[in-house]
Amino acid sequence: MSRLDSFIRRLEAQRRMLDWAAAEIAGHPGLVLELGLGNGRTYDHLREILPERDIHVFERDVSPNPSSMPPADRLVVGDMSETLPAFATHHGGSAALIHADVTTGVPERDRVLFAWLPASVAALAAPGALVLSGWDLAHEALTPVSLPEGVPPGRYFAYRRVP
Ligand SMILES: C[S@@+](CC[C@H](N)C(=O)[O-])C[C@H]1O[C@@H](n2cnc3c(N)ncnc32)[C@H](O)[C@@H]1O
Repeated sequence: MSRLDSFIRRLEAQRRMLDWAAAEIAGHPGLVLELGLGNGRTYDHLREILPERDIHVFERDVSPNPSSMPPADRLVVGDMSETLPAFATHHGGSAALIHADVTTGVPERDRVLFAWLPASVAALAAPGALVLSGWDLAHEALTPVSLPEGVPPGRYFAYRRVP
């Protein structure tokens, strides 16, 4: 498969995952955390499908499409290895949905580069919260859950925070 095909499939999987997660967390109060603003595409989708949610976005190099800039008080600027633990001191266990989109595209590299991420995500997720990631997050507090129809195994990953 060409990298273009792979990229298109990744975006399709992302949309399915986000739409599915929005339905799954209905009735479960809590923050939504977008880890990796980038161009702002998935943030823009999240705010469209979850207009009533408080969405906090984490990014080191803030340069989205201008139409997808989060409000200043919902944007946490800095390296997530530092900003997530700091955020967790006030908001630990308060997220209903966490979307981690910080992949380099090379899972083996991600596991090393973002070795600190699973523990930070587990600390921020409320019991029963959904965690979505482009690569597999290994943590004892995160239980893998089945992907929605149409998302092939390995294309995206979903977890629930154990109570
Ligand atoms: C794949 S992009 C996100 C794409 C975005 N979700 C979208 O749909 O446009 C990953 C983003 O994560 C950010 N990032 C990567 N590592 C980071 C870190 N340690 N701390 C903060 N931001 C980081 C990068 O700057 C990049 O913008």
